[in-house]
Amino acid sequence: MLRLILMIFLCITGLTNVYGDTAIIVPDTMAERVRACTICHSAEDKAGRDAYYPRIAGKPQGYLFNQLRNFRDGRRYYQPMVILLENMSDEYLLEIARYFSLLQLPYPAPEQIHMQPEEIKRAERLIYSGNPDKDIPPCSACHGDVLMGIEPAIPALLGLSRAYIAAQLSGWRNGSIMRSQTPDCMSEIAKQLSDDEADAIAKWLASQPVTGESRPLSALLPELAYRCGQIIPANGGAR
Ligand code: HEC
Ligand code: HEC
Repeated sequence: MLRLILMIFLCITGLTNVYGDTAIIVPDTMAERVRACTICHSAEDKAGRDAYYPRIAGKPQGYLFNQLRNFRDGRRYYQPMVILLENMSDEYLLEIARYFSLLQLPYPAPEQIHMQPEEIKRAERLIYSGNPDKDIPPCSACHGDVLMGIEPAIPALLGLSRAYIAAQLSGWRNGSIMRSQTPDCMSEIAKQLSDDEADAIAKWLASQPVTGESRPLSALLPELAYRCGQIIPANGGAR
């Protein structure tokens, strides 16, 4: 009888408990579970393009999965993320990667960066033609003609801040990040860039708007895929 009264009481009072506090019922969705992540990788991009936090929404699943494993396994270092990821299984990281890869959010406006005409030329030449003398393929050959990445594991180069791009390039160049197992194509390519070239590229990329086709393309030429070894597995990054 007492149970019945209690049940009726709970029905009448809806989501309140016997003490009158509102019970918080959190739905167990992926969006809720990744709340700790979206504080920094936020939907609204509240910190603006100058912020260091990279955008992750809409990046290829295999790429995101590789990065999550890199942070968890110590190949890429950022302590607040390591703490969150250290006990997560590969299966769960793949689920998180899938969630963010399917998330579609508007892109922020490009950064306003002043560049000299010769600096623009230098950046565009490297990005679209590369430098055969130094064995640098065009960035667009791997990152796609519109630089929005290629499935399953190559990220977009647009929609990122200058500070973030510059930090990744310098991390590869000075060897302080070892994101991937060998052969590590980006590390080899970045090491061939001079300071001025890396700087011009970071500025140019960050000042481009994202228009039109903003989803990653779906195939990489085999002769370029071999340079990146295990980064581009046939199964999209899943083990
Ligand atoms: C305290 C802020 C913060 C939190 C919380 C955080 N991140 Fe990050 N995340 C960053 C920063 C900063 C970087 C870039 C670090 C670097 O330079 O390597 C990053 C990088 C990444 C990258 C690589 C992006 C790329 O383009 O290479 C992924 C993927 C990612 N985070 C996913 C997550 C997920 C999933 C969570 C939640 C489990 C999370 N992050 C929580 C700040 C954060
Ligand atoms: C041979 C293929 C290839 C070429 C050419 C290439 N990249 Fe990459 N790039 C990759 C791969 C693969 C990754 C992902 C690396 C990883 O998983 O750690 C990447 C990642 C990046 C990232 C990290 C993006 C992020 O979200 O963190 C930047 C920045 C980048 N490349 C810049 C460049 C620039 C600039 C050039 C031209 C000078 C270039 N890449 C040429 C294959 C390539």
